[in-house]
Amino acid sequence: MVDKLRRKTLAQMSGQLKGKGLVPSLGWPHLVALGIGGIIGTGIYTLIGTAADKAGPAVLLAFIIAGIVCTCAAFAYAELATMIPVAGGAYTYTYTACGEILAWAVGWSTIFGFLLVASVVASGWSAYCSPYFVHLFSTLGIDLPYWALHVYGSVDAASGAHGFINLPAVVVVFIVAGFLLLGTRESALVNAVLVVLKVGALLLFAAVALCYFNSENMHPVNADGTQGFMPYGFFKEFTADGVERGVMAAAAAVFFAFYGFDTVATAAEETKNPERNLSIGIIGSLMGCILIYIFVSLAAVGAMPFTEFAHQGDVLAFVLRRLDNDWAAGIIAIIAGLALPTVILAFFYAQTRLLFTMGRDRLVPAGFAKIGESGTLIGTIIFTAVLMALIAGFFPIAKIADYANAGPLFTFAMVSVCLLILRRQYPMAPRAFKVPYVWFVGITGILGCAYLFWNLPNETRLGFLGWNILGFAVYFAYGRRKSIFARAGGRQAG
Ligand code: ALA
Repeated sequence: MVDKLRRKTLAQMSGQLKGKGLVPSLGWPHLVALGIGGIIGTGIYTLIGTAADKAGPAVLLAFIIAGIVCTCAAFAYAELATMIPVAGGAYTYTYTACGEILAWAVGWSTIFGFLLVASVVASGWSAYCSPYFVHLFSTLGIDLPYWALHVYGSVDAASGAHGFINLPAVVVVFIVAGFLLLGTRESALVNAVLVVLKVGALLLFAAVALCYFNSENMHPVNADGTQGFMPYGFFKEFTADGVERGVMAAAAAVFFAFYGFDTVATAAEETKNPERNLSIGIIGSLMGCILIYIFVSLAAVGAMPFTEFAHQGDVLAFVLRRLDNDWAAGIIAIIAGLALPTVILAFFYAQTRLLFTMGRDRLVPAGFAKIGESGTLIGTIIFTAVLMALIAGFFPIAKIADYANAGPLFTFAMVSVCLLILRRQYPMAPRAFKVPYVWFVGITGILGCAYLFWNLPNETRLGFLGWNILGFAVYFAYGRRKSIFARAGGRQAG
């Protein structure tokens, strides 16, 4: 039967799984660790400063709002991952629910999102680790100049030196790519250790900084003499210096801090008792992170005026240094150095899996799905590493972070759309986990993501639109003619 929308059927999806036979071995503690491992990264370690700059002490509220919207998307992921446990995530769900053209838009936007998320985390890692990097090179007799440590456009206020490339960020991207080329993946144990370290470092920060809590910092005096918890108001507005601020602008920015729970959804096939464990894994890891983020942001904005750390790269270590706790700042910097690359690894890996799936569907050249002799996607990994290194090396972190939010917001909204469509399209299909109050959760997820998207900077929304116009041009010039559906004459492709 010809399907004008070119949708894949559920039967066809299950056909893709035949013979794979993954052994269900993961319980809910593994899944919570997997989720927290992917979630905690640059968002809380670095971008909390950018968000505080937009919302002041009300950055707390921004974390809660973004957390609620993510929770709706997480519910949708949990149901769809157990219903269609096939590689490709949101792209795959959309192919089934809405057809090829929207699946292409989701895949193209997710590529954009994953690339930028990994680049942001690489830049955040650089903010914490540059001093150690400089030290390492100086012991080898090489003094790294300012231009090699800062992106193009940055200027050192003291010396007037200009930046050109963020070399540490480029190096960490290639190190992670090297691990992927070797076929190395995070083992459950390494991941669990790093999760304990990351969470421990955040709790250490909160415990130390809360000792310096001063309620006056929660109601700062503004430039216009007014005083309050929300110095820039609730809704997004341009302030006099041309920056878009307000609690909702900050919520759109800190949305970044919550991605990573979707990595739990991809483990559906390997989960014991998925109905119970998958939901605990996805929702539990998100809830845990929401609570941790609230404590950390409360501790940061309560310990000192937010304006003092808003423009720092290594925010948490900076706050502790200013509070004369150099030992704690050192521990946090070391843990950030060790643990942030695992987030790059998770998104880098997800990116290669997505390109692999799209290559298998022939929406991008089949070369992206080509597995090398060593069993890794060599070409896809190198291609991705070069793009990531260019972005992380030459663009400032706050700007890339805004762009990084656009793709996932669109993707999460589409996952909620797919949830509702598939409930109607396949009402009787087995679902190991069913979202309760599905219409309420689905519509809140869609509207929440749409509203946060609206609160991204104008430039970001236009950039995302431009990326998708380019994407559709690529689709009509290439994917539409080459896809497995085109080869099958519009019938369900095999
Ligand atoms: N949630 C991840 C982070 O904050 C992407 O780094």
